[in-house]
Amino acid sequence: MANLVVIGTQWGDEGKGKIVDLLSAKADTIVRFQGGHNAGHTLVIGQNVFKLSLLPSGIIRENKSTVIGNGVVLDPWKLVEEINLVRSKEISIDPNRLIISENTPLILPFHKELDLFREKASGNKKIGTTGRGIGPAYEDKVGRRALRSGDLKEVETIKSRLRTLVDHHNILRRGYNAKLIDEESVFTEIMKIREEIIEYIGPVWQFLNSQIKDGKNLLFEGAQGSMLDVDFGTYPFVTSSSTLAGAASTGTGVSHNKIQSVLGITKAYTTRVGKGPMPTELFDEVGQLLSQIGKEKGTVTGRDRRCGWFDAPLVKRSCVINGVTGIALTKIDVLDRLEKIKICVGYRTEETIFNEFPLSSDVAETIEPIYEEMDGWNCNTSGMKRLSQLPEEARKYVERIEKFLETKVNLISTGPERDETILLEDPFI
Ligand code: IMP
Repeated sequence: MANLVVIGTQWGDEGKGKIVDLLSAKADTIVRFQGGHNAGHTLVIGQNVFKLSLLPSGIIRENKSTVIGNGVVLDPWKLVEEINLVRSKEISIDPNRLIISENTPLILPFHKELDLFREKASGNKKIGTTGRGIGPAYEDKVGRRALRSGDLKEVETIKSRLRTLVDHHNILRRGYNAKLIDEESVFTEIMKIREEIIEYIGPVWQFLNSQIKDGKNLLFEGAQGSMLDVDFGTYPFVTSSSTLAGAASTGTGVSHNKIQSVLGITKAYTTRVGKGPMPTELFDEVGQLLSQIGKEKGTVTGRDRRCGWFDAPLVKRSCVINGVTGIALTKIDVLDRLEKIKICVGYRTEETIFNEFPLSSDVAETIEPIYEEMDGWNCNTSGMKRLSQLPEEARKYVERIEKFLETKVNLISTGPERDETILLEDPFI
């Protein structure tokens, strides 16, 4: 029995989807524990490309069960859309394969409207959210007025919870002079969609703990990345959930001491979408090259990702706060054409040297990276499957990262397909 959490150590988009898909071969159950359909994972399986944002990646393997935990915020319309998409590829989904926690808060249409409205109204102070209603839905969760999936079982509960929620939002809307929410029509839409998802709603915490008792392997699939964590990320340019490994426990009801390993998915360079500090961002032709070769466009919003050199202190902090036990280094092949490669090993302002990535975004906006330069390998590594195939310079790059992070690289990804992977150590201990 082994339970493993997979998290992103940077700003998301580290390539978690592929790694989770690869590891899910060894898992019995794959679990989403935070975030919502702001996450995007692209899975390439032969000719089929799956772009999922809400369903756990394991859904495309028919012999696996998948779970959406209480730490997620769930848009039921998006869920049904994804279920239909997966089914359209001849993959079956039924309540034995997909369980949604009863205490998962729902994203309703007015959450999305509020998210978009706020972003528009914020002018140059916008966060650059995905506009999916994630933040407003989490606000209602901690404001103790959310409609949760388990509430869908009773019509009277839906009515009374919706009343409280809509009353709250309409107070805000009156303040903004915006059109009020029509409670009746939202209720009608909820009643329609509930028919399609009600059979999947169940006691996730019980299911997962009984799986553990039976010696099954659980794989917890994180979304976004540690630098988007609501506490430890580049606040306020963060998402609204806890993206750290600890959330696998609070977001599902599986105790932290039942989880043995944390795999930190780490891109061989740095990217971010949306606003906020990114000290190693490149505005030159190297940045453009990374963007083009790495196909750095957001899965969910299609926005261009900002690209830059590998930021080692940033990833080091992620390793520490997540308790990372091993690294999956992804997209190393994107660096193939570079003569020289830089690694950021610290930061400076005119007065100060920083060994750690600063917690304050205001400070992080002012720092300059301190770089170490290494020789590139200038040859093709894409699709490599064995360490011995990697050119010496690429191996040195991996070793330098390991040394800085004081963490072992468990696997290296050399392309989008499952088998384009160099496995060094099994992360499922
Ligand atoms: P939200 O999660 O939609 O509220 O967006 C907040 C910030 O997190 C924005 O900068 C988004 O671009 C970013 N973000 C949210 N989800 C992802 C993701 O899956 N990958 C990368 N960035 C994300």
